[in-house]
Amino acid sequence: MKQTAEEQSIENRIADLIRRMTVAEKIGQMNQMCLGDGSLSDEISQQIRAGRVGAVLNAVDADTVNTLQRIAVEESRLGIPLLVGRDVIHGYRMILPIPLGQAASWNEGLVEAGARLAALEASTHGINWTFAPMIDIARDARWGRIAESFGEDPYLASQLGVAMIRGYQGDDLTAAGSIAACAKHFAGYGASEGGRDYSTTNIPENELRNVYFRPFKAAVDTGVCTIMASFSDLNGIPATANEFLMRQVLRDEWEFDGIVVSDYNSIPQLCDHGLTADDRQAACEAVTAGVSMDMASGSYEKHLEGLIGGGDIDIAIVDQLVADVLRVKARLGLFENPYTTVDSDNTVANTDAARLARDAALQSVVMLKNDDRLLPLSTEKLSSIAVIGPLADDSYEQLGTWIFDADINAGVSCLQGIRNLAGDALDIHYVKALETSRSQSSDAFDEARDAARNADVVLLFLGEESILSGEAHCRADISLPGAQAELVRRVREAGTPVVGVILAGRPLVLTDVIDDLDAVLYAWHPGAMGGPAIAELLFGLESPSGKLPATFPRAVGQIPIYYNQKNSGRPAIGNEVVLIDDIPVRAAQTSFGMTAYHLDAGFKPLFAFGFGLSFAEFSYSNITTSSDELAIGESLIVSADLSNTGFVAATEVVQLYIRDVAASVTRPVRELKGFRRIHVEPGQTVKVSFELSIADLAFYGRDNRLRTEPGEFQIWIGGDSTADLGTAFQVTGGE
Ligand code: GLC
Repeated sequence: MKQTAEEQSIENRIADLIRRMTVAEKIGQMNQMCLGDGSLSDEISQQIRAGRVGAVLNAVDADTVNTLQRIAVEESRLGIPLLVGRDVIHGYRMILPIPLGQAASWNEGLVEAGARLAALEASTHGINWTFAPMIDIARDARWGRIAESFGEDPYLASQLGVAMIRGYQGDDLTAAGSIAACAKHFAGYGASEGGRDYSTTNIPENELRNVYFRPFKAAVDTGVCTIMASFSDLNGIPATANEFLMRQVLRDEWEFDGIVVSDYNSIPQLCDHGLTADDRQAACEAVTAGVSMDMASGSYEKHLEGLIGGGDIDIAIVDQLVADVLRVKARLGLFENPYTTVDSDNTVANTDAARLARDAALQSVVMLKNDDRLLPLSTEKLSSIAVIGPLADDSYEQLGTWIFDADINAGVSCLQGIRNLAGDALDIHYVKALETSRSQSSDAFDEARDAARNADVVLLFLGEESILSGEAHCRADISLPGAQAELVRRVREAGTPVVGVILAGRPLVLTDVIDDLDAVLYAWHPGAMGGPAIAELLFGLESPSGKLPATFPRAVGQIPIYYNQKNSGRPAIGNEVVLIDDIPVRAAQTSFGMTAYHLDAGFKPLFAFGFGLSFAEFSYSNITTSSDELAIGESLIVSADLSNTGFVAATEVVQLYIRDVAASVTRPVRELKGFRRIHVEPGQTVKVSFELSIADLAFYGRDNRLRTEPGEFQIWIGGDSTADLGTAFQVTGGE
């Protein structure tokens, strides 16, 4: 594609610099040094002055960053500015819901606005590069990093990943407040065996392309500046050394021309994987694969000069990777404006930040149950409530993982949010009952039960502390930790209606408590303003609108379990599903079942992808398509009527799913291809329409080429992935 004048100017600058750079200075641009505690050291200053550092990690003080930049720009030979990286994952000072929670909002605008706020806050501290969005497809809730993801669906993760990149990078990368984004971790990290972090992944290329690559392709197409290699071993070759990923797919096919950064120490870890015998070989493998920058390990700094001098690495390869680094710096405008305009830390105090954090929390909460319309609560009808549980009054634990720079005093706990909203009208009795979410002690359970007995309703705050999810924090048993399930049972003994409010970094297995809870709000880790948001939902100032971005298993043994699964040759769909307690004694071996399900769990999840209740009552009718056929170059309009037959106005996330009934490779039983948040007044019916093109239906076939094949497609519109309002159309020509 023809380069613009600006792009040509950048390429000219790069070529000129590379011509003038020594080998040592080239290697320096590929070296990212970590400031352990964020402070400056003589060693780093000298390295920067010598042109041996291209980026730093974890410097978070504007004065320190400006000092580092001044050394790079004014004291090194070529004056090349530094990239300053940091994990700004779901807020910087003002913490928003964890990405999995933000995904439950199904709101690209909100995700973009949150990233924009974080970028503005971070850039005033000198940060010009964040290691987000994390767009790994996660189908295993045992994996702690599902918290950082946008969940199990490629389409939802693509839309929200692009929104987050737009938020961080803005419309003008050179503008103050814009920072480089990083789509991570490329690729397939979410399929880590056993849900154990950093573990092996084995993913056929067709599945990589149809599922795991999709969000990254969308990120590259939207202009993400950088990509991070995943720690994981992919089909026997760790991503950090995987030429298929970093050259064939990223550069050759997708024409990505930004930075590929290793993950932290992932280059020397190639020895731990058993791919390389020593660090020198690891550095050789990573450069050959196409990793532009070494995060923190120093492997490139130590070995590349020898590898080039010894003829193991062609300097032309190094020049290409150095060009990637210089290109991103030029696109950020760092050569012109390397310094941070130090701004007083007024963002957090900024009410807009708090309002955005509250809106994000409001829209991320998913109502999983509401028997007898227990919610919303009315201060007119109640006189006393019991607030119980280890996470009720903890504004720190509600923040979630990856909150390095949070203003932990900015948060409002759930109890405080309830008191602020209803404290004058209600008698609120608080019992923590458990010291932490992991506590095993039932010493305070009698007190909790008595408090429940003396209240009109119980608000039971359960879930996981932040540390129980996130990187390296995986669990083999994903039910409520500690003695929380016992606490639910003991509170239930009081006979008072119980609302469960669950704060967690993953889908939990709720099977053994769900029947003892009359209503459930699932709030993920809702961030600093989780308290006010949850209070507003509990008392009906807003209706819950969140929808699940990941499937909730009935049992951990069902994992991996996700909605867009393949059908298998023997799907469990009918009454042949006989469960373990219903099997006749001495039943003949083939007398029942013989389809794809577990005797002790069936085949359905506890809660399906896309599910979420509202205070309104939504129904769908009258699905139509603009044509029964779709040919090359054409598009199809699919519509349905959405009615609010309830008594309150509310927002529904309308979802569009398709199924390619027969194709040259098996396709999922459902695929999300559209969604929209629609506000509907009580008694109102609105028509919701989606436009589908042939390209929207495309998948990677046996030859791993993208195509749409002729044949029957089924289509559904509804409020979750089990929507049953459907129709069908024919694709008459593929591309
Ligand atoms: C971590 C994570 C990565 C993060 C990086 C820098 O180990 O895997 O997501 O951005 O190191 O902190």
